[in-house]
Amino acid sequence: MIDEKCTILSHELIKGDYRMLVLSAPEMAKDTAPGQFVHIRVPGLEDTALRRPFSVFDAGDGKVCVLYKAVGRGTRALTQAKAGDIVSVMGPLGHGFPLKCEGDALLVGGGYGVAPLHFLAKRLLATANPPAIKVFIGGRTKEDLLAVEDFAKLGVETMVATNDGSAGATGLVTDPLDDELIRLRTAGRGFELFACGPDPMLKAVAMRATGTGSKGWISMDRHMICGVGACYACIQKTVRGNSRCCIEGPVFAAADLVWS
Ligand SMILES: Cc1cc2nc3c(=O)[nH]c(=O)nc-3n(C[C@H](O)[C@H](O)[C@H](O)COP(=O)(O)OP(=O)(O)OC[C@H]3O[C@@H](n4cnc5c(N)ncnc54)[C@H](O)[C@@H]3O)c2cc1C
Ligand code: FES
Repeated sequence: MIDEKCTILSHELIKGDYRMLVLSAPEMAKDTAPGQFVHIRVPGLEDTALRRPFSVFDAGDGKVCVLYKAVGRGTRALTQAKAGDIVSVMGPLGHGFPLKCEGDALLVGGGYGVAPLHFLAKRLLATANPPAIKVFIGGRTKEDLLAVEDFAKLGVETMVATNDGSAGATGLVTDPLDDELIRLRTAGRGFELFACGPDPMLKAVAMRATGTGSKGWISMDRHMICGVGACYACIQKTVRGNSRCCIEGPVFAAADLVWS
């Protein structure tokens, strides 16, 4: 883990409250694995928790990219940062997704949860024996569907669902996922599940992994302060007791998670 002073190369509005931040981060870009996160000191933010955690959407060629949603004080302040500004970024932090997959890789993301899954898909495709990959993207409306074109650029098949039916299937992202699970089971194919997004979606995906005896890898999004294991703000209950999302996670095996 390093604390790198990174120049903002670009900072673009994607849609709605979502932006893509591209950082020049030569050191971090070399070492970051999918599912790990960076802890960004938000310029101009005067509070005790100066940093905010973000998954890595992509890393390589000296750059680290973050796809984020402006939701509160820190992320709104971050929207003011401009290309050329320098930000302090700690990372890469935490444990990411495994890059070995037995059977098909089914990636399930909601909202900005697609960010680490995009990086995962890219890295899985670069392995010696890439698995067949399908991505299931969910959102409340079409405005919350992110990275669909980025997955298409990777050549990955993408299924989309929105709660209001404004794009893709109407309903939950687990509906098309369930159709795929039935299809795979009928064909006798194994799979692993990889998920990041809102808690109810993560729980539903974890249940499908454990319920089918398959491996599941769940990236837990917990409020963080220090990001390095010192403050215990980011506790997740697991079968081994309390775990810190920033150290033992954010990616956990589905079978290890205890849901309240
Ligand atoms: C490992 C990890 C990876 C993340 N990756 C991304 C990412 O790729 N893109 C992205 O947009 N966001 C990501 N987040 C969430 C992001 O860190 C929070 O949205 C951000 O810290 C909120 O800061 P704020 O000051 O703007 O909001 P605050 O003013 O602190 O809070 C505003 C609202 O956001 C909620 N909030 C605060 N922290 C979180 C959190 N960790 N998760 C969900 N809601 C939160 C609060 O409950 C409140 O409703 C990630 C969080 C973690 C722990
Ligand atoms: S954020 Fe401080 S221990 Fe995880």
